[in-house]
Amino acid sequence: MKRIAIFASGSGSNAQKIIEYFHKNKEIEVSLVLSNRPDAYVLQRADNFEIPTHVFDRDEFYHSNEVVKLLQNLNIDLIVLAGFLWLVPEGLIKAFPKRIINIHPALLPKFGGKGMYGNKVHKAVIEAGEQESGITIHYVNEHFDEGEIIHQSKYKIDKGDNVDMIAYKGQQLEHHYYPKVIENLLKKYRNN
Ligand code: GRF
Repeated sequence: MKRIAIFASGSGSNAQKIIEYFHKNKEIEVSLVLSNRPDAYVLQRADNFEIPTHVFDRDEFYHSNEVVKLLQNLNIDLIVLAGFLWLVPEGLIKAFPKRIINIHPALLPKFGGKGMYGNKVHKAVIEAGEQESGITIHYVNEHFDEGEIIHQSKYKIDKGDNVDMIAYKGQQLEHHYYPKVIENLLKKYRNN
C-alpha cells in the first residue's frame, strides 16, 4: 500500500477529488488529512470518508518534530499540499526529499511566491493582460512555489473573462490532473 497525506488550509475541493479518486483503490490510500486551521472545511470532507485528521498550530509545525514523526509513523509515501498556505519547514522537507508536492493555480514561474494564492493570482494574471493561464504541479522546496515542475496544463483566457471565470477554468484542470499526477508519481515509487 502506498500512503498519501494531504495538507490543506481551506475548503479542500482538490483534497475531495483526490480522496474520491483513490477511494476503493487497493494500492494507494489517503491515510491522513492535516490542517493548520481547526475550522477548515477540508476536515469535514475527510471525516465524511472516515479518513483520520490532524490539526496543528504554528508552534507544533515550526518548533517541534511532531508532524514529521506522525507522517513517518504512518509510513507516508507522498505529501500532497492542496491549498496549504504555510511555508513548509526545512525539517519536513529533509525528512521527505522529493516526496512533497504542491499545486499552484498559474503557470509558474510567473505569478507565484509569497502572498500569491487564490484569487490574488488570477487578478494578477488578468492585470498583466495574459492570454492564457493554467496550473502547475511542482515539488516543494524551502521557498514558496519554486520547486521543480512536474506538470503544467493551460487554458485560454477569453476577452471579458473575470477572476471567477478563470478561477473556474483552473479548478477544472486541477481537479482533473492532480489525482492522476499523484498516481503516476506513486507508481514510479512502487519498487523503491
Ligand atoms: C487551488 O486553487 C490550488 O491551486 C491552490 O489553492 C487552491 C485550493 O483550493 N494551491 P481547494 O481548497 O482545493 O478548493
